[in-house]
Amino acid sequence: MSSKPTAISFSALSVPTQGVVVILAEEGGALSPTGKAMDKAGGGVISQAAKVNDFKGKKKTVLDMLVPSGLGLARLLVVGTDKLSGYSENDWLELGGFIRAKLSAKQGPQATIVVEAASARTKLPGAAAANVAAGALLAAYKFLKYKTKSAKSTNGKNNDDQPGDLARIVVQCAGPAAARKQFAPLKAVCNGVNFARDLVNEPANILHPGEFAKRVKALSKTGLKVTVLDEKELKKQKMGALLCVGQGSAKPTYVAVMEWSGAGAKGGKPVAIVGKGVCFDTGGISIKPAGGMEDMKGDMAGAACVAGLMLALAERKAKVNAIGAIGLVENMPSGTATRPGDIVTSMSGQTIEVINTDAEGRLVLADVLWYVQENFKPKWVVNLATLTGAILVALGKEHAGLFSNNDDLSANLAKAGEATNEKVWRLPLGPKYDEMIKSKTADIKNIGGRHAGSITAAQFLQRFIKKDTPWAHLDIAGTGMAAPRSDINTSWGSGFGVRLLNRLIADTEEK
Ligand code: BES
Ligand code: MN
Ligand code: ZN
Repeated sequence: MSSKPTAISFSALSVPTQGVVVILAEEGGALSPTGKAMDKAGGGVISQAAKVNDFKGKKKTVLDMLVPSGLGLARLLVVGTDKLSGYSENDWLELGGFIRAKLSAKQGPQATIVVEAASARTKLPGAAAANVAAGALLAAYKFLKYKTKSAKSTNGKNNDDQPGDLARIVVQCAGPAAARKQFAPLKAVCNGVNFARDLVNEPANILHPGEFAKRVKALSKTGLKVTVLDEKELKKQKMGALLCVGQGSAKPTYVAVMEWSGAGAKGGKPVAIVGKGVCFDTGGISIKPAGGMEDMKGDMAGAACVAGLMLALAERKAKVNAIGAIGLVENMPSGTATRPGDIVTSMSGQTIEVINTDAEGRLVLADVLWYVQENFKPKWVVNLATLTGAILVALGKEHAGLFSNNDDLSANLAKAGEATNEKVWRLPLGPKYDEMIKSKTADIKNIGGRHAGSITAAQFLQRFIKKDTPWAHLDIAGTGMAAPRSDINTSWGSGFGVRLLNRLIADTEEK
């Protein structure tokens, strides 16, 4: 993580008498039992403040009391929640994120969040408190690596709290032991999300393919088996589609394969997650316009998600066999770069006419998808890629595009999307779209013309999916980077997909 993480602990309920305290109030302004006790101890100071401020316990409203008289506290935040009875795990997570954003270290390095009403009402003992804590971890993420101390001091008024300034959060709840137990796997997932965010936020001069491979290799210490294939090996594997993307760059191309065998030999065939890792996408010879090109440092968000997911699976010791495979490459124009019109041979044997060198993501995935199917015979494959600008036109930043040859896998992804609020929306595939990528001189061309850009890109990928492999492609160009701020994310690199796929695996493979 880029910022010092806040330590989280869980403790039993008791009326807090010092420091920064957060309590909850439901619709109508009804305080939690602890809140009521505190109100009484303070001679009605909380209900009086609520009245004066017209605080009614509405979701996303806060009654902020500094040094509330008679309570001995530095600050009391009463956070509105609407009705808690209907809260899902994700609602609790978002509440935790919302609360974290309201906290600052100015009144002290520690804050106490009291969620007792929560634990009593939810069907999942401990889940409410655990998710509040996880939401706080996700919301605290900031990418501060390149903000120097001197820059902070010359900007005379930079008093922004840094996430690390809040050293500790204590979550009070009815069942701290249950909460602690539930929090452990959630923390692993948060670590995976924040690892993915770090990768996406890094500039491309630092996070080139070799550096990305190195950081993935370092995940071996979690129990993952990590193999990095270099260009010599990629040539041997005949990955001509992937290699033609990187041939204009001074930086060598890699494929990294992460294996997690949490279900052991009797767990059977693994599932496979594949990611586009274009560390920078200039467009190549079909070069992109200058405006906004800097965002193309995030064109490896698919690969970052795969790495973050594999870290999460390993850290929470998920009972699943899973393969994560990523193609790491830089798309640059130069004297050695691929030209429009060049024809390359993919690992599958299919020849590809490269009409537009900016449609490079599909070339990367073509070979990595084939490699994974050949070597691991996966139960299913999901790939993630910042593949097309057209998906932003179609779906904006609210949904990732979902394309699939399998209704069950699609439905499971949609369900996981609803549960995690990392939503996906299915778009069609079909033979008529496939006709749009027929080439005059090769087996297939890498663009399909003006219409249905996201679909023809997906159609291209499907050419490299074997008939009996259940497969889904997630186009995350809108959701993986520069996504809108939310309660649990203020980072440019969102880490989209880690929670989604973690949930898919937990629900469908670890039952
Ligand atoms: N990496 C881009 C897609 C992208 C665009 C990601 C905006 C994130 C934000 C991809 O490689 C690309 O350049 N796609 C082209 C395809 C076209 C040449 C058919 C595009 O979308 O314009
Ligand atoms: Mn491109
Ligand atoms: Zn790209």
